[in-house]
Amino acid sequence: GKAGYPHFMLKEIYEQPESLRQTIHGRVDSINSTIELEDFEDGAFTDVDHVQFVSMGTSNHAAMYAAAHLTELGIPADAYMAGEYAEAPRPTTENSLVIAVTQSGETADTLNAIRRANNAGARTLAVTNTVGSSVTRECDESLFIRAGPEIGVAASKTFTSQVIALTLLSECIAEDVNETTNPGRRAMLGELADLPGDIQQVLDETPAEEIADALFGCKSYFFLGRGSARAAALEGALKLKEISYEHAEGFAASELKHGPLALVTEETPVFGVITGEDDLKTVSNLKEVQARGAPVIVVAPASLERDLEFADYFLPIPETHSSIAGVLANIQLQLVSYHIADQLGRPIDKPRNLAKSVTVE
Ligand code: F6R
Repeated sequence: GKAGYPHFMLKEIYEQPESLRQTIHGRVDSINSTIELEDFEDGAFTDVDHVQFVSMGTSNHAAMYAAAHLTELGIPADAYMAGEYAEAPRPTTENSLVIAVTQSGETADTLNAIRRANNAGARTLAVTNTVGSSVTRECDESLFIRAGPEIGVAASKTFTSQVIALTLLSECIAEDVNETTNPGRRAMLGELADLPGDIQQVLDETPAEEIADALFGCKSYFFLGRGSARAAALEGALKLKEISYEHAEGFAASELKHGPLALVTEETPVFGVITGEDDLKTVSNLKEVQARGAPVIVVAPASLERDLEFADYFLPIPETHSSIAGVLANIQLQLVSYHIADQLGRPIDKPRNLAKSVTVE
């Protein structure tokens, strides 16, 4: 049941402290700074020379995160939309690791991409929420995100668990390939241990409902971010369009002046996702849209609130490591989307035309 929540999606949003605890349970030792992922022993990834992610929708946004993290750790990695993978460079050796990211494990585009990778002789790995799903049969190996069942058609808690499971997997891959541990790991794992509590704080203190009340019914909604915050911006826009039926687009903050700015008016609220000081460049983009009358909503670490006073609305996130801050930013955006859709009376758990698993291309 919905456990007293009006929608499964809201229940699943509020379950995230617990579902994330399940994702990391027994896998992380933050005192010794070690990570252990069941079937993957030390050295399991030593031969990997590059990584290709294949996935769709929300899972693709989680994969973008992971590709950015791996690249930062020195491992070449690309996130492909699985439906476009036929045109991607062919993985040629068993040292190519192709990772399918799929909550359901049944997405047709993603399964087809894995078949192509298998045919090319690549090593294939499934990152999924669903034990016994098709993707686990098609891939050589599997890693489960353990988020628990997700009933709402729009993905929420599974995104958070995907991002964190992929962060742990990326650390293991890089450790084996580089034959050394990422010097930033200890700090990151320390913050990861606090992440369920940080999520609880976001859920308890979010101003999302007031912001949704002020902004619902506008013409379009835009979401900007740079670097890894771009994945959160894309995911914010996807969620809003799915459940509210309002027009929403996410794009790289750097792209703003190259076209999207032409659409900006006082009728188009713009969300800016800032996950750390490196993203402060996004501020000038946001000031630009504000000068054209657009309401500006900033999602950023609470410590930056002073620098961001120009914003019309502020969605604070607790201090954490920059590589996991996007999870917290995304939860604020999940809540805004939920409340906008609720104000508009949409059938949040079952948006028209959409299915929980998309088993045809
Ligand atoms: C977004 C959503 C879809 C799925 C996509 C992939 O809220 O639900 O975009 O993310 O269809 O599904 P999986 O992860 O099952 O492969």
